[in-house]
Amino acid sequence: MSTPGGGSVTLKLATSLDGRIALFNGASQWITGEAAREKVHQLRSEHDVILTGIGTVLADDPQMTVRLPGYDGDQPGRVVLDTRLRLPETAKLLNGEGGMVLVFCGGDVPAGHQAAIEAKGAVVEPMNRFDGPSISLKAAIARIRELGGDNIMIEAGAKIAASALKHDLVDRIEWFRAPMVLGGDGLPVFAALGLERLDEAPIFQRVGVTECGADLHESYQKAR
Ligand SMILES: NC(=O)c1ccc[n+]([C@@H]2O[C@H](COP(=O)([O-])OP(=O)(O)OC[C@H]3O[C@@H](n4cnc5c(N)ncnc54)[C@H](OP(=O)(O)O)[C@@H]3O)[C@@H](O)[C@H]2O)c1
Repeated sequence: MSTPGGGSVTLKLATSLDGRIALFNGASQWITGEAAREKVHQLRSEHDVILTGIGTVLADDPQMTVRLPGYDGDQPGRVVLDTRLRLPETAKLLNGEGGMVLVFCGGDVPAGHQAAIEAKGAVVEPMNRFDGPSISLKAAIARIRELGGDNIMIEAGAKIAASALKHDLVDRIEWFRAPMVLGGDGLPVFAALGLERLDEAPIFQRVGVTECGADLHESYQKAR
């Protein structure tokens, strides 16, 4: 495993056929169909923690809970990387349903807003390790592990997904691909990786392909 401290990191992606996660104007929800969404809920139930970025929370206001008929198992914890603590008090993540919410932020955030978020039951933890202007994803994962979250699933946008690949933190990719083309003006699933040589590209080995309604579910594990 490439991730610090054992456990595994799964990167879940839901894209169009051409690897886009949203239109240029940000419209993105429901690219994949019902069967794929149900499978994502099942995957959530198999992880201790779902990790996302503030970009996803602001765009989609997700709950990131397991919502399956008859499910009464554990709900995964939710972790948000949010350097400036922009998480709205009204976010569905804070609606009291689901597992604990942990927000990693930078050192200098508005104290009143922090208190308001904590009053909604979230834990806000300043992080002193950075990757450029944002929080270090590797340090965040190490901290989640310290807190007992071994198996982590990343459900985030292009920036966090790229950070995870760049820092070699992904053990497995679960990729849901809808038979829809969004074109080159759509948002790509990964932000820039800054690769200069092909042999620097992360390589994955496909370990499964299944039909999921009209969509395809591809599973990959890290090859090198
Ligand atoms: N189809 C899918 O599977 C899927 C899933 C989720 C989201 N989306 C779509 O993705 C879009 C949002 O993309 P996004 O890239 O803005 O969202 P994101 O990757 O979820 O969040 C990015 C933000 O997280 C913060 N961040 C903190 N630490 C970071 C780190 N180490 N690396 C990268 N970012 C870090 C940064 O803001 P600060 O610097 O302020 O902390 C950054 O702008 C939306 O359109 C959403 O619908 C699609």
